[in-house]
Amino acid sequence: MIKKAVIPAAGFGTRFLPAAKSQPKEMLPIVDTPVIQFVVEEAVASGITDILMVIGKGKRAIEEHFDRNFELENELEEKNKVEELNLMRRISNLAEVHFVWQKELKGLGDAIYCARHHVGDEPFAVLLGDTIIESENPVTLQLMKAFERYRECMVALEEVDRAKVERYGVISGREIEPSVFLIDDFVEKPSPKDAPSNLAIAGRYILTPDIFDTISKTDYGKNNEIQLTDAMRKLVAERAMYGLKFKGRRHDIGNKLDFIRTNIWYALKRDDMKDEIKEFMARILSGDDSPF
Ligand code: G1P
Repeated sequence: MIKKAVIPAAGFGTRFLPAAKSQPKEMLPIVDTPVIQFVVEEAVASGITDILMVIGKGKRAIEEHFDRNFELENELEEKNKVEELNLMRRISNLAEVHFVWQKELKGLGDAIYCARHHVGDEPFAVLLGDTIIESENPVTLQLMKAFERYRECMVALEEVDRAKVERYGVISGREIEPSVFLIDDFVEKPSPKDAPSNLAIAGRYILTPDIFDTISKTDYGKNNEIQLTDAMRKLVAERAMYGLKFKGRRHDIGNKLDFIRTNIWYALKRDDMKDEIKEFMARILSGDDSPF
């Protein structure tokens, strides 16, 4: 059973400036909950008990979010804010969270390589820290179940518009049972005309530990970064790797438009605000120039 997960969260978040200048983009809230908390909750709901976050400069807020804050807890206790107090304690007890620093931002492949000592010689999950996937069954668990059957690397796949493939790693492969693909190649951010398919890697992976050695032999690729996709491409030349078209809805928080959409989407799920949000939007759509 897979117990360890790696969450890379070291990148600068250049697509999210100025907000990400002095705070991690992974701490941006969806309504009132930081994106990275959703990611950790998915890992925990999948049975992960040990999480390694790969962080870098300016990411201290992530550490603090998963640490206990006794002053805050005392304050909440004194004010009898029981619900908030329980929430704060729950967050710091979600899992055993460890941190490692990616000292130079050399790409996702290099970030994963930073996890090699912690992970050791066992398969592990990877959840990108800026992607939320909403699903009945946590996507990491969907991948873990598929991994139990095939015992080889398993990546989450999503069909995307051909015009958007250049934002993603893309696979080529064939469907060997409903939703499971035997992969024969990986390409990082291809142009639509060169893409081997429209099946994009969706930010969740189960990897076997030999990925580390392969990353160490992987050259700089797209955007002059060491790409995880390139390392997987090397590995797939040697042996079987699989992709799973997961059941769920992915929200990529790394871009502004999807971030706004995701906030509205989650706000509309909240009983304490959905009616007011709907009314506000209806007013805007009807041309009301003072909808507040
Ligand atoms: C990374 C990966 C890419 C993957 C994507 C999913 O790219 O390199 O293969 O499809 O995440 O979000 P990034 O979004 O960090 O540029």
